[in-house]
Amino acid sequence: GRVVVLAGGLSHERDVSLRSGRRIADALRAIDVDVEVLDVDGRLLSALAADRPDVVFPALHGSYGEDGAVRDVLDLLGIPYVGSGPDASRTAFDKPMAKAVLRAAGVRTPDSVALPHDTFRDLGASAVLEAIVARFGLPLFVKPARGGSALGASVARTVEELSSAMVGAFSYGDVALVETYLEGTEVAVSVVDTGSGPEALPIVEIVPDSGVYDYTARYTAGTTEFFVPSRLDPEAAQAAAQTALTAHQVLRLRDVSRTDLIVDAAGTAWFLESNVAPGMTETSLLPQAVAAAGLDAGVLYRELLHRAVSRST
Ligand code: DAL
Ligand code: MG
Repeated sequence: GRVVVLAGGLSHERDVSLRSGRRIADALRAIDVDVEVLDVDGRLLSALAADRPDVVFPALHGSYGEDGAVRDVLDLLGIPYVGSGPDASRTAFDKPMAKAVLRAAGVRTPDSVALPHDTFRDLGASAVLEAIVARFGLPLFVKPARGGSALGASVARTVEELSSAMVGAFSYGDVALVETYLEGTEVAVSVVDTGSGPEALPIVEIVPDSGVYDYTARYTAGTTEFFVPSRLDPEAAQAAAQTALTAHQVLRLRDVSRTDLIVDAAGTAWFLESNVAPGMTETSLLPQAVAAAGLDAGVLYRELLHRAVSRST
């Protein structure tokens, strides 16, 4: 059948998505799957209705891609697709909501507050910043509540830095998530389910040269060192893998996800977020985990496409 990879889109992560889409298509073409990449814009609905694919692989990151919107459209049209449904995507994409779900499931996640921009207007910026520091201390990590690829995210070690970090986060959305900043090992755990239940792939440990896994460190080859599998001791690795599986389950994710975590010195895995459309670029984490598991990316993606089709029949 005809496979369409949805990429691009209208979010700040458009370029990343185009790279992910191209890589997915290349991996599928390498095993002779007929695949087309569709650059998503406002004409998506008519494009899909006119030229109905048999199955879709969404490679859209950020708004309209990971927030469930496009998956609602696919459900509406009755076109099967790889990955989580709209409701689960909405929950996972909203970091404060996802953290609340995980917290309720007994998973550790850094202490945090979600701040709507209006709070600043209503209460005054300095009163809000002081209240945050009084409650959570420093350093803090600030990011848009709904975003990705570390855009608008930064560490704040002083009140002044907190102020500019908030400005950075608000430039990407109306709600900022302020979290206590944890020292530890940054890891990503990809989970795939090709029919026999969710399985955690080898853990990817992330060591950016600059110390911060920002946009540049994510997408410029050679700026971050990766250890796959991670150098975590077996117990900590087990805790990280289990946390990712728990996240996949309690957020009701489907087929594929990637959960990002910090593992502290005591070996506790702290949930940061789960991604329903993990990056699939040359430098992204999931493809590295797939390779380390000894799997062929194209074969895995084809299995996920088959699973999507069989779910819909
Ligand atoms: N948001 C980017 C694509 C990622 O999580 O990999
Ligand atoms: Mg993300």
